[in-house]
Amino acid sequence: MSAKKGLFDLHEMKRSGQKITWLTAYDYPTATFEEAAGVDMILVGDSLGMCVYGYPGTVPVTMDQCIVHSEAVRRGAPNTFVVGDMPLGSYQACDEDAVRSAIRFLKEANVDAIKLEGGVRTVSRVRAILDAGVAVCGHIGLTPQSSGQLGGHKAQGRTIESAKLVVEDARALCEAGVQLLLVEAVPPEVAAFIRDELPIPVLGIGAGEQVDGQLLIVSDVLGTFQAFTPKFVKKYADIAGVATSALTEYVKDVRAGAFPEEQHCYHMLAGEDEKFAAYTKE
Ligand code: KIV
Repeated sequence: MSAKKGLFDLHEMKRSGQKITWLTAYDYPTATFEEAAGVDMILVGDSLGMCVYGYPGTVPVTMDQCIVHSEAVRRGAPNTFVVGDMPLGSYQACDEDAVRSAIRFLKEANVDAIKLEGGVRTVSRVRAILDAGVAVCGHIGLTPQSSGQLGGHKAQGRTIESAKLVVEDARALCEAGVQLLLVEAVPPEVAAFIRDELPIPVLGIGAGEQVDGQLLIVSDVLGTFQAFTPKFVKKYADIAGVATSALTEYVKDVRAGAFPEEQHCYHMLAGEDEKFAAYTKE
C-alpha cells in the first residue's frame, strides 16, 4: 500500500505532471476497493442522493447523510485523501453555516478537505472556511446544486461569454485560496487554459484530458447506477448485470430446493443427534 497523500503531494503531482486519480465512494466496502486500487483521492459526493438513496437529484441530500457516509468511507480508506461534499443548504445562507458544516466534516468524519460548489459568488464562504483551518476544493462549471439556474444539467463554457465566466470563477477561487479545484462539464480547451494558468491542481470531470487529474462517479464506473449515463463516463464493469444474474440464480435455487445443500448446514455435536432423535419420539 502506498503512503497517504496530502495536499503537498497532490500539488507536487501537478508540478511533476503526474496525473491525480479521483473517484467518489459512499460506503465502507467501496472505499476499501478504491484504496486497494491505489486511487489518490476519494470524494464522498452529494451524488450519493442518486447513487445510494434513489433521489432524482442532489437537492434533498442532508449534512447528516453526508457525515454518515463520509465516516464509513474514512473507515474503509484510512490511507487515502478524502474530500467531503457540502450539500445544498449547508453553506448557502451565510459564512457561519459554511464554517459550522465544514468543521462537522472534520470533527465527525475526519475528512482531509471539503468541496463546495460555486465560483465568484462563493468566495466569502471559501475564505471563512479556510480561515477556520479547513482545506477547500472549489467546484465550477456545471454545478448540479444550482442546475435550476443553469437551465438543467448542461455543459458550461461552450460560448465565449460562458467560457469567460468559468475562467473568472476559477481565478476568484484560486485567489481566495482554495487548495484544489474541480471543473465539471466544460470544453477541454477551457479546462486546459485554467490548468495552465493556476498553480493549484485542477481536476476534471467531463472536462477532457488536459487537466491535472480525473474524477468519475464510482457508480458509473462500476455500472451500479442505471438511471442515466453522462457522455463523459467510461464504464469499466457491469456490476448491476453481475448482481442481478447472481440474485436470479439464488431465487431459482431456493424455489427448486437446490439451496441450501449439505455443506451449508450445521450438525449436532457428536452423540447429541441420538438424544434428539429419542426426544422427538417421547
Ligand atoms: O457529488 C458529486 O459526486 C459531485 C460530482 C458530480 C462532481 O459533486
